[in-house]
Amino acid sequence: MISPEIINKLFDIASIEEVVGEYVMLKRAGANYKGLCPFHDDKSPSMSVSPSKGIFKCFSCGQGGNIFQFIMEHEGLSYPLAIKHLADKYNVPIEEGQIDVTELKEEARVKEGVYACLEFARKYFYERLNESQDGKVVYKPYLLERGIAQQTIDTFSIGLSGTQRTDLLDEGLKNGYGAQQLYDAGLVKKINDAEGVIPSNLRDTFIERIVFPIFSVSGKVLGFGGRIIKKDTKAPKYLNSPETVVYEKRKELYGLSVGKNDIRLKDRAFLVEGYMDVVSLNQSGVENVIAASGTAFTEEQARLIKRFTHNITMLFDGDVAGVNASLKHIKTLLAADLNVEVALFPPDEDPDSFIQKRGTSAFKEYVTEKSQNFIGLIAEVTLGNQKNDPIKKAETARSIAENIAALPDPLKRAAFINETANLLQIPERVLIDEVNKFKQENRKQKEQEQRREERIQEKQNSSDTSSSYNYVPEFTSFTTAEALLVDKKSYQEQDLLKTLILFADQEFDEEHSVAEYIFKELQEEEIWPVSKEFETVFKDAYAYLLEHKMLNELYFIRNPSTSKMAAGILSQRHKLSPGWEDNFEKIVKTEDDNYKHQVVQNLNYLKLNHIEILMKENQEKMKCAETEQEVLHCQQYHAVLQEIRKKITDEIGTVIL
Ligand code: GTP
Ligand code: MN
Repeated sequence: MISPEIINKLFDIASIEEVVGEYVMLKRAGANYKGLCPFHDDKSPSMSVSPSKGIFKCFSCGQGGNIFQFIMEHEGLSYPLAIKHLADKYNVPIEEGQIDVTELKEEARVKEGVYACLEFARKYFYERLNESQDGKVVYKPYLLERGIAQQTIDTFSIGLSGTQRTDLLDEGLKNGYGAQQLYDAGLVKKINDAEGVIPSNLRDTFIERIVFPIFSVSGKVLGFGGRIIKKDTKAPKYLNSPETVVYEKRKELYGLSVGKNDIRLKDRAFLVEGYMDVVSLNQSGVENVIAASGTAFTEEQARLIKRFTHNITMLFDGDVAGVNASLKHIKTLLAADLNVEVALFPPDEDPDSFIQKRGTSAFKEYVTEKSQNFIGLIAEVTLGNQKNDPIKKAETARSIAENIAALPDPLKRAAFINETANLLQIPERVLIDEVNKFKQENRKQKEQEQRREERIQEKQNSSDTSSSYNYVPEFTSFTTAEALLVDKKSYQEQDLLKTLILFADQEFDEEHSVAEYIFKELQEEEIWPVSKEFETVFKDAYAYLLEHKMLNELYFIRNPSTSKMAAGILSQRHKLSPGWEDNFEKIVKTEDDNYKHQVVQNLNYLKLNHIEILMKENQEKMKCAETEQEVLHCQQYHAVLQEIRKKITDEIGTVIL
């Protein structure tokens, strides 16, 4: 158990705008902030962040909650680990044993172990580069020779792997990390695939390599890229960590954790090909730089960078490989609605070598001068100077049309079609037709993909019902014993909770706040919610009220099982948007001036539900009655219940009027 003091301290020092702002560019909008939601493919800023309430809420996909929910969702952590994540970040010490790892779900436990191994490896590699004999005599001098200064080594935490086959393995085991954990972290590999994960069958993944730790946006080590420096070897120049539970290559960008602030500031990111380019540009003062490390740029990476800027300039080698790589990236970037420019470097130069040779200002001038959009780039590489060759021209037009078709914004499509028509001297009409053909193809492809995904999803759903690896109850499952009226009730219990969150500390009558009145009624009338989740939520809140003599929205924002709902309700308070449940309209309409009626009405509905349950139970009992007396008794009870029910429905009638 993590103590409430730590949690409250974090609520005090880790503001929601800072926690969210670490991952998403936020713009002020009145008293709140707005930004692109990181939890779905957001086209325009749908996420609202309220500093005064400490909550975030996406009006499009529905995600919402407090600082911990944000971290849980974003980092894929359990609730305790999200607390630990922020505690580490804000230097709030958590005593040993406060996080009981046996309490964690299997997946979270594995991840925690993997993160620990990776951080251990980073430190070990870093120390080896800076302190070992190999490091000092061979590898550090290599870096210095290539113009990489100590400060840059520190900024990127560059290190040196072991030189023997099991250096890291031995060191890890000695420090208490398990063979399986090191294996899960991708730091060691099996020698013989058919055999198990036991030390005798393992060796280091990285041997005799300079290693570049790959960090997540928030600065956690996910894996490494390793460069060999020996020349006489068949081994690949670069070797990357394999995919692991924490490292999904398609989702990460090298350099983002270091460069993100400058990317935000400059509102532009330079996309380069290699680790060395990122490191070297950063050292020369060009800090807004990232790399996709060898692989093709993915949709997820586009979404990630979009949180910091919409403007990308690709800086690639001017050789065939570089041009092809940039063409491959462009479509993904355009499809993500990013503004893309490309500056190609002279053959045999890359951004690293260029800036080292000619300096920062020459570099900047070169980039400005050479930057062109995708139309210019494609025209340059496919058409070259054969401007009058009709076949080349058609090929160029088709290639450009294919990229224009990827653009989601029709205005941008129109503008680019116009530009292309002028450049190639081709009628717009022809280009439009060509673009439409590609669009149709894309659509077909997308539909096929979607169908495939749906089929996979269906299969998963039918085979796996316990996929929820989530600490927070989801307000959907109910115990079967009370399943009679659960559907209707769950809405009504939810409605009551919403009313409670909105108005808990407002006056209900001279003696009671809304919260006090609601709980008094629940207690006296014995109408506690029947679904387990709501019952727990209400009972916890009641206990809190009894203990602290007060209850307000802050309690619901901070409580992990209600914060998502609180974020939803409180963000919506003065703003209706489509997609919100119908029920909400009721609350908004009656809000403020009418909340007392809302309370009474909610409680009445709850009472009605309970009466219906009692009636059903009574009827069952009557069916099984063995004596006349029992039957009579049941009939009398039925009449009483009917009477009460009538009273309540009458009252509901007046309240509704
Ligand atoms: P230096 O040669 O040290 O200047 O690095 P570089 O960044 O200039 O390397 P290069 O242009 O050859 O490669 C660019 C990027 O492609 C690298 O940073 C790697 O991410 C990737 N890469 C290059 N060579 C290999 C390889 O042999 N294997 C793998 N997996 N990736 C490679
Ligand atoms: Mn290079």
